[in-house]
Order: sequence, then structure tokens, then C-alpha cells
Amino acid sequence: MQFTADKLLLFGATGDLAQRMLLPSLCALSADGLVAPDLCIIGTARTEHDDISYRNFAAEALEKFLPEERKASVPDFLKRLHYQPLDASKPEGFAALAERVGKVVDGLAIFLSTAPSLFEPTIAGLQQSGLAGEKSRIGLEKPLGTDLETSRHINDAVAAAFPEDRIFRIDHYLGKETVQNLLALRFGNILFEPVWNAAHIDHVQITVAETVGLEGRAGFYEGAGALRDMVQNHMLQLLALVAMEPPSNYDPTSIRDEKVKVLRSLRPLGPGDSVTGQYREGAIGSQPVPGYDEELGRDSDTETFVALKAHIDNWRWNGVPFLLRTGKRLPERKTEIMIQFKAIPHSIFAGQGAKTEPNKLIIGIQPRENVGLSVMAKIPGLDRGGVRLREVPLDISMPDAFAGPQKRIAYERLLLDLIEGNQTLFVRRDEVEAQWEWIDAIRAGWAENAIKPRTYTAGSWGPAAAIALAERDGFSWHE
Ligand code: BG6
Repeated sequence: MQFTADKLLLFGATGDLAQRMLLPSLCALSADGLVAPDLCIIGTARTEHDDISYRNFAAEALEKFLPEERKASVPDFLKRLHYQPLDASKPEGFAALAERVGKVVDGLAIFLSTAPSLFEPTIAGLQQSGLAGEKSRIGLEKPLGTDLETSRHINDAVAAAFPEDRIFRIDHYLGKETVQNLLALRFGNILFEPVWNAAHIDHVQITVAETVGLEGRAGFYEGAGALRDMVQNHMLQLLALVAMEPPSNYDPTSIRDEKVKVLRSLRPLGPGDSVTGQYREGAIGSQPVPGYDEELGRDSDTETFVALKAHIDNWRWNGVPFLLRTGKRLPERKTEIMIQFKAIPHSIFAGQGAKTEPNKLIIGIQPRENVGLSVMAKIPGLDRGGVRLREVPLDISMPDAFAGPQKRIAYERLLLDLIEGNQTLFVRRDEVEAQWEWIDAIRAGWAENAIKPRTYTAGSWGPAAAIALAERDGFSWHE
């Protein structure tokens, strides 16, 4: 049902995500008049607060995490905030929560960012207290399970209270402007689509490199690891956007139908197609940093790095490897997609001694937001010793090309879409399940072959075996 919510109920309202992302995003939307003046935000969590003390709490978070130029809008924004304490593991509190939410005129948007153990009791509580009615929709923040089975369990529990068209599964990478720009690049230009296939593309690389380590999230990360924390969701969504067939429309069904076809076409990984790693002490820049085992205080087999060679078994991508790589404590923060085209079929310059390099398309997602295409060009000169060529970049920096529009964080977009009911940038159940199916098989392979992460020095690009994984096929990672 199409409605714009006039109430937003935020579970996990005192959590890290709320402080860093949700409150700043909502404040920005409010300041720019993008949400209705009467949108009322009710926060809930176990911590005891009343409206006043929650507003103070939110003010502190905004002081820390909101850009300076936005701060003037804080006092007005705070007036929208209300708070109701709730122990979501117990059904008793939900009636009071529903009373606090009060009459919903246009609709209720619920944002669930809580510990996985609270998912089911929360859904049950919402249902019993009448908060899951026809005019409610729910946004679910990860982690939604740890494998296909647990994810199905959660999805079933949610489905018992909300139909799929009112469930908004969040993958915050889809809220990033540069990720959405992938669709514009592929389907808003005639240039790329004719060569976007196995006949012209040699291989694809997707890198999500982080410099951060555990960041105090040991409890969560130990049970996840890089494969489930980053590949299962963000990286497979990037892969699906790169590889999908052209959808017929920019709408939730058309786009998600095409993505899920890609996810279902992922070939199960072979035994030698993955490398895992765990960082040891080293340095990022010139800053010394401890190893994962030291941060954790014990030994562990959790991978903080993973590199994979994936294949998509369909006509378009037959024989084209997709190399995926992600890790913590790598030398720089960089999310990037690199499309390496094939070599030209015949070089007219070979007799002149000039070498040509295959074209590369580089899509910078963060922190650099750019689209770069490497092309061969003639080195200026009289060519007395023969024609010489060199690769030069055609580089479009997005912030320079669009100097006017304000840069928005992913959650601004996603919260607004949740409030207004646009599912295009949210993940459908069949996508999540296809993602888990592929990931579970990788983990089963690791368990079967007793694969343990290799160590790598913090500040390096992961274990040497990751380099070998690419080099075996004659590729090198784009760095
Ligand atoms: C989260 C992961 O989903 O994404 C984190 O749980 C990771 O481990 C984060 O650091 C990366 O997000 P971004 O937007 O900083 O690239």
C-alpha cells in the first residue's frame, strides 16, 4: 500500500548506528524539508530515557557526528523526538509502546536496528500490540541471520507480520550515490552496454578495502568474519548491479528481478578459488596497530580478509572471472570496481614497436567518487624511432561534475525511501536467500578442507596467496 509515514519508530535508538548515521540523517532530511513538518520520531531501546533526556542524548550524538554547517538545524529537529523505553525481549512493554506511538494517521515506518536475538520477540510484540497493521512498514538492518537457515527463520518471522511489499531489507551500499550511479553509467549510456559481456570483458575486480580493525565489535565480528560481514551483502549487491541484464524500468520489481537472476547464476566456488586472511600487528600509514588476535585477546579462526574468484554461469558472462576482495586493516580505504576489457584483436602498431594495453574502466565508489577509463594515446613527438603509445586516463570526478548538489549519506536516502515506501534500493527476500546459498557453500568448503585464515601484516594488501589467486590467471589486482 502506498503511503508516506507520518510516524517513524526507531528500535535501537540509543545504539551506535542511531548515533552515527540515523539521527544525523534524519536531522539532515528534516533541515532540508524533505520529511513532513509533522513527522514524529519515536525512539525506543532498553535504556531508560524520557523525551527530554533522549533529546539530550541525541543532541550529544549530533554534536559529534553532524557536519558543522548542519548544526543550526538541531534544536528544531530535536522537537520531533520522543522516547519510550522497552525491553523488546518481553512482550509486556509493547502495549505501552503502541500507546506512545498513538494514532497513526498516514502510516508508520519502523526501523529495526537491534541485536539479532531481539528480532523475533520484536516482531511478535509489534504484531500483538497492533503496530504491524496495514499502514505499517518495516526496515530491517543487518545482520539478518548468519546463514541461509537462520536468515529464512528471520524472514519467516517477519513475513508472519508483514507482507513482502512492506518489508525493507537494508543494504546501506545501495543507498550510496556512487552505487546508484552504476545503473546510470550502464543504462543511461549507449557506449558501454554493447561491450559489457564476455566477448569484450576480460575480468572484473571488486575491492572493498578498509583501514579500520575490530572497532570494539568483537562480539559481532567473531561470529561473522569478512565473508558474511561484507561479501554476503554489500559485495554481492555490487556484483549483481555490474552483471545484471538491463531491467525494463527503474522500479523495485524490474531491478530486483534482474539482480536475483545474477545471484542465482553464481557458480559454486571451487576449492582453490578463495583465500582468507587475518591481520597481525603492523602499521596503517605510520600508525602502529595491533593484530586481530591481540585486539580480541585470544586466538581465533575468523577471517578479516577474503579474496574470491567468482563466475556467473550465463551467456553474458561465460568465462569472465569476477575477482572480489575485502579486508580490514588494509593500506587504504577504497571501494572500487574495475572492468578490465580484452586486448585489441590486432595491433597496427606492433611493427612500430609500440605496445597497447587493454582498456580499463574504473568506478570509484569511495572515498574517491569517479569514473575513469584508461585509453591508449600517442605520445606526442615526431616518431623518428617509431610510434609510441601510452595509457592515459579519461577521468570524471563526480563531486567536480556535480558541484551543486549536496553530498548525502546513504542512510538519508534509505530512511526517506522507507518513510515514502520506495523499495527499489532495498533487498528482496529471494536476493538475500540466493546470496546466503552461495556463501554457505563457500563456508562449507572451508570447513570440509579445514581452511584456516593465513596471517597478513596490518597495512598490507592481505596474504600473498591473494596475489597468487589473481596471478594464476595472469591478472594483477588494481591498486
Ligand atoms: C558494515 C560492516 O556493513 O559495513 C562493517 O558490518 C564495515 O564491518 C561497514 O566496516 C563498511 O561500510 P562503509 O559504508 O564504511 O563502506
